[in-house]
Amino acid sequence: MDLCKICDHGLETIISFGEMPISNRFVSDLTTDEFFYDLSLGFCPKCLMVQLENCVDPDMMFNPDYAYFSSISRAMEGHFKEMADEIIVSVSDRPRPFVVELGTNDGIMLKHIAERGVPHLGVEPSANVGASAREKGVNILVEFFNSKCASEIMDSHGQADIICGANVMCHIENINSVFDGVRILLKPEGEFFFEDPYLSNIIQKTSFDQIYDEHVYYFSGLAVSGLAKRHGLELVNMVPQEVHGGSMRYYLKKGSGNPVTNNVDFFLSQEKALNLDSLEGYASFKERVDKICSDFRNVLLKIKADGKRVAAYGATSKSTTLLIYSKVGPGLIDYVSDTTPTKIGKYTPGTHIPVKSYEHFLGDSPPYTVLLAWNHKAEILEKEQEYRKGGGKFITFFPEVTIE
Ligand code: SAH
Ligand code: TMP
Ligand code: ZN
Repeated sequence: MDLCKICDHGLETIISFGEMPISNRFVSDLTTDEFFYDLSLGFCPKCLMVQLENCVDPDMMFNPDYAYFSSISRAMEGHFKEMADEIIVSVSDRPRPFVVELGTNDGIMLKHIAERGVPHLGVEPSANVGASAREKGVNILVEFFNSKCASEIMDSHGQADIICGANVMCHIENINSVFDGVRILLKPEGEFFFEDPYLSNIIQKTSFDQIYDEHVYYFSGLAVSGLAKRHGLELVNMVPQEVHGGSMRYYLKKGSGNPVTNNVDFFLSQEKALNLDSLEGYASFKERVDKICSDFRNVLLKIKADGKRVAAYGATSKSTTLLIYSKVGPGLIDYVSDTTPTKIGKYTPGTHIPVKSYEHFLGDSPPYTVLLAWNHKAEILEKEQEYRKGGGKFITFFPEVTIE
């Protein structure tokens, strides 16, 4: 039995997907061997954290070849501008504010803080995306954040007024060390906030493609409040976010007895009503995932049998889980269109579907396109009005397979 990475209690398995490759490692040479690991999701009945049972070594995922550049989406640009504005307001009355962001990536958020001249530091272990942030005037430390890194930052820069991170806390297996680091680095009156895909949304929408190597944890308010307590922190607010198919932003303060918003009570009660505090809440998940995957494959098989072609849109990391678990490869999808230069010309991990440029997609205009980047659906449908007017159809798969 695998043990909880937070409290060492035995994990209960929710679903096993079998062997998976690294989701962001696009393949350039099909003759070289890929690394595979066993992807399964577990629930800890003691601290209530949903998590991967087996984790991949972080150096294999986050390195100078890291393929994900945050600034690809207009919607995410807007989202992070708003986050930066919130930070600017909250530090405006502090004498010498210092803002630390974990997982800065290409500086999509921190560039706004840098532009305003606020002292800041981005901690980003993937050197290539970090270099892109530096080009935008952002101060970057190329390191994995943990308690040791936190002490070093404190010695060199002093404590932080704000520590924040988006789509990064769920990536870090050694989360106890990260929370210890936050406690070390945060000023007594400072604020720590982070956001990640929200467990309630993943379970309710069956958005199982959020489950892949980089996402070690699937946070709920129930689990985060317990984790915070273990590390001398307190969950004081929860604010839902529309990005990435439904995320949650968690706000934490040091110590205990801080004012706590009604939102925390509200979401914790809602999570309990969904039984996310017991294995029961996850009982039908596998069955629902299996249905989506077989429907998805059957729809593609039927289109193929009708002699039509299918392409896909957005070579997302999360589509690795969908494509492999549904047994969908280049026999059913001709290519995936993507705007990220580092992905174009390569092949999807494990399934080896060619990744082609957006210009190729525009010229080709395939009759059917699987919307792998479903989390950017609003932005993409707006952009692709011409394609749909010309008869092109998008295939989506949450909460059920739909052609629209
Ligand atoms: N915040 C951005 C990037 C998310 S991708 C956004 O929301 O779009 C996650 C990023 O976290 C990657 O750039 C990865 O290199 C970085 N990361 C992974 N482990 C980390 C750690 N221990 N400390 C800081 N950053 C880390
Ligand atoms: P994400 O789901 O992890 O945010 O990744 C989105 C991927 O989709 C990324 O590789 C870029 C790609 N993409 C496009 O190709 N076109 C688009 O319009 C958008 C929004 C994303
Ligand atoms: Zn646990």
